[in-house]
Amino acid sequence: MPDHVGYDLGVSPGSVFRRSTLPDPPVAVEAHGSTIRDADGREYLDAAGGAIVVNVGHGRTEIARVMAEQAERLAYAHGSAFTTEPVEAYAAEVGPYLPLDDPAIYPVSGGSEAIETALKLARAYHLANGDRDRWIVVARWGSYHGNSLGALDLSGRKPLRRPYEGWLGRSGLRPDRSRAPRVFPW
Ligand SMILES: Cc1ncc(COP(=O)(O)O)c(C=O)c1O
Repeated sequence: MPDHVGYDLGVSPGSVFRRSTLPDPPVAVEAHGSTIRDADGREYLDAAGGAIVVNVGHGRTEIARVMAEQAERLAYAHGSAFTTEPVEAYAAEVGPYLPLDDPAIYPVSGGSEAIETALKLARAYHLANGDRDRWIVVARWGSYHGNSLGALDLSGRKPLRRPYEGWLGRSGLRPDRSRAPRVFPW
């Protein structure tokens, strides 16, 4: 089997290292609701919303406005030294939706980071309880939990894992033994 199996050797033009190797992908210029429009005026139904990150829809001017106002006032303050009114208000609003008494919110920037954080938090919890031997994580074949290494290690999609197998298996997964079967046999 040639060494490059599992890798896409396509080279995209321009300076962006694109996730798509289509030589000439459409240039998205604007979006409203569930519709994205490209530079040629063609419209696309954004049924995935970037894997569900646009769950409030595109073009929400009221959200864009408060984001711009906040960025002008205070764009960033490191969470190890500060808290801010918006993050406190956000956590107070989200908390009641969670099935926990008095939950604490740890804001992150995306799904992979959330998975990495949950993994480390679970381990830290057990260490704090003196439970040093609890470190194995059960994951399912067929699952996708993200692009970063820890999240990939929990993900059960073999083609995505294959090029990086040498770096995986550190979260306690023994893929052929401790992995639960797929939830759905697709
Ligand atoms: C279940 C699940 N976990 C984690 C992720 C990774 O999220 P992100 O792409 O924001 O890093 C995804 C993305 O599709 C997901 O579906």
